[in-house]
Amino acid sequence: MKLVSVILVLFIFPLKTLTLELKKPTILVAVLVRNKQHTLPYFLSNLEKLDYPKDRISLWFRSDHNIDQSIGILKYWFKSVKNDYHSIYTEFEDNKSYPGEESIAHWTDERFTHMMNMRDSALNYARKKWADYLLMLDADVFLTNPNTLNYLTSKSFTIVAPMVQSVGLYSNFWHGMTEDYYYLRTEEYKPIVHRENISCYAVPMVHSCVLVDLRRAESDLLTYRSDKIENYDGPHDDIIVFALSAMQNKIPMHICNEDHFGYITVPLEQDDKLSNDFENLLNIKMDKLNTGESLYVNPRLAKYTSLPEKDSMMFDKIYMINLKRRPDRRKRMHKCFDELGLEVETVDAVDGKLLNETFLQSLQFMPDFQDPYHKRPMKLGEIGCFLSHLEVWQEIVKNNYHTTLVLEDDVKFESFFRTRVENVMSEVLKISDWDLVYFGRKRLQEKEEPWIANYLVQAGYSYWTLGYTLSLKGAKKLLDAQPLTKLVPVDEYLPILFDKHPHENWKGYYPKRDLVALSAAPLLIYPTHYTGDKGYISDTEDSVVIPEEVLVKEDL
Ligand SMILES: *[C@@H]1O[C@H](CO)[C@@H](O)[C@H](O)[C@H]1NC(C)=O
Ligand SMILES: *[C@@H]1O[C@H](CO)[C@@H](O)[C@H](O)[C@H]1NC(C)=O
Ligand SMILES: *[C@@H]1O[C@H](CO)[C@@H](O)[C@H](O)[C@H]1NC(C)=O
Repeated sequence: MKLVSVILVLFIFPLKTLTLELKKPTILVAVLVRNKQHTLPYFLSNLEKLDYPKDRISLWFRSDHNIDQSIGILKYWFKSVKNDYHSIYTEFEDNKSYPGEESIAHWTDERFTHMMNMRDSALNYARKKWADYLLMLDADVFLTNPNTLNYLTSKSFTIVAPMVQSVGLYSNFWHGMTEDYYYLRTEEYKPIVHRENISCYAVPMVHSCVLVDLRRAESDLLTYRSDKIENYDGPHDDIIVFALSAMQNKIPMHICNEDHFGYITVPLEQDDKLSNDFENLLNIKMDKLNTGESLYVNPRLAKYTSLPEKDSMMFDKIYMINLKRRPDRRKRMHKCFDELGLEVETVDAVDGKLLNETFLQSLQFMPDFQDPYHKRPMKLGEIGCFLSHLEVWQEIVKNNYHTTLVLEDDVKFESFFRTRVENVMSEVLKISDWDLVYFGRKRLQEKEEPWIANYLVQAGYSYWTLGYTLSLKGAKKLLDAQPLTKLVPVDEYLPILFDKHPHENWKGYYPKRDLVALSAAPLLIYPTHYTGDKGYISDTEDSVVIPEEVLVKEDL
């Protein structure tokens, strides 16, 4: 009887897996928040989304010296997650600024002391709580990879950090340290940030997102407080104290770039305001949009995010040309415009695939045109693309727009896009004679291009029409040359008209080539994909070659 029931139990409950499986190690996540209202909705959303059992996570949050809504957002969030985590400790104080502080980004000694004390108390709190790990996490880090905690706890390091990226070269580690314990840039830094080398590296400093294995006995030697280190001779700086306490005790710090883990915003400079934090966040959001995704925000927290008011900057009009059958691109571009605060009119592109025979036969192509690289005649997509730009030029003239920005729909915007546009355009508008300014292009000639101003060069032979500014005079020139009577792709047409096309024969078809073309330098716009990239479908490059009979007719 007894035997039967044991067999029955074993049969019904496969005990094997349950008995051997260990629970995940426990983690205390410690977060200090100051003036982070812009980043908090994204920070908290990504924290919540980590794929790790919340009942194995305790939270420790402190926030003080805020001039913004940080504490309000935190309180709102804690109300909704208070039953999810193992435990929650919070300490919020209402004081606004440190004595003697000149700005929100000014680091007084008192502020550093406060940071050291707070971080050290988080460390001790985690030890007292018998947490297996402490994750010291800053509120400007977005862990977009939900696997980050599983990954980090699977590494057998006492101190380990996931490399998080920023715009440019800023990241959460140092590869070198000066003799007086400050930042030192080394040759190896860049290949690690750019993930040319992929591994975990022992480095002198990791910060902003750091996991400490508290089960290791040596972790007891770590501290954030300089007064706890004998004969401390380093800077009065919490992260440097911590790094030196590790170094003194021969505990290596590791940075791992084996996966994409997330982002970190660039810290504010001393003169920066809260609005600069908004701009740093924007650069990360745009970077994410460039990959076709958005920086995640939980719908519950979305009400604390904000978008800028829209305008068309110094332009009379901004157009974006998009094919109706590419709604994916339209949607992504509209998101970019929302983030950048750009008022843009979307123009339905002429779809080359829908052009009928009668219309195609009415077009007159340039007799000896062949694509110089592919040695093939014009494709339907290229015809559609030309007609779309032509339509925009006609609109410009019809509406008498003096300055117009024309964008295609597969572009990436450089970080600080608006500021850069302002810099470029303030120079352009001082020049009396200009017709076209490339914001993005593929430069085809090696020869140095003459500088016109700080951010402007004279444009040489170039491809692409990703983004360009056109003057009213320029639009008129492009129309007056009657391109439909000797059609070539639009990115050949422009260099012909500004007389920089290497193909002498082609230029002969356009006797008036006086378009004044400049280019932003550095460029402000790049293609989201390059032709030939895996998975890239260009609407012009890959479309059907125009029917044979039409071409034969044109050759006559
Ligand atoms: C304000 O912050 C300081 C630390 O800079 C602290 O000593 C003080 O107790 C705080 N005051 C209040 C009212 O919270
Ligand atoms: C990166 O990888 C290359 C090639 O494997 C190697 O020569 C180089 O030393 C590595 N750099 C670092 C920083 O590990
Ligand atoms: C062919 O296309 C042209 C221009 O789009 C249009 O005006 C014309 O009506 C079309 N003809 C036919 C037969 O569909």
